[in-house]
Amino acid sequence: MFEMKEVYKLGVPHIDEQHSRLFELGEKAYNLLKDTYSIDKYDKIVAIIQELGEYTVTHFKDEEEYMQSINYKRLLSHKIEHDNFIKAVNELDLNKIDSDQDEYIMNILEFIAKWLSEHIIEKDILIAGSI
Ligand SMILES: [Fe+2]
Repeated sequence: MFEMKEVYKLGVPHIDEQHSRLFELGEKAYNLLKDTYSIDKYDKIVAIIQELGEYTVTHFKDEEEYMQSINYKRLLSHKIEHDNFIKAVNELDLNKIDSDQDEYIMNILEFIAKWLSEHIIEKDILIAGSI
């Protein structure tokens, strides 16, 4: 579900590396969700999603600093997208336990995977085009 692809690469090594790390964390959570034999998997998945959320904040900050360093014209609107995503992740109730826990976590992971890939391919890639 989470996979770093060639098409996501901006050609800015530290940003590309951070994007890879985000995909790695997401894939780790996804594999754990699929693992029916893992004990206490929900606690681990929640921890990974939380780590992903925290790492995203650090990554966005670095990406925004980079945009500033190259005088990127669309920094403000780009930052709004980042802020909206952080807000959406913060609003997730990861401790919500119900009978559809697998489905609940799957929906969260699908949302994160979709957002990340679309944001990188539609918005981050424009940064590369302006270098
Ligand atoms: Fe971005």
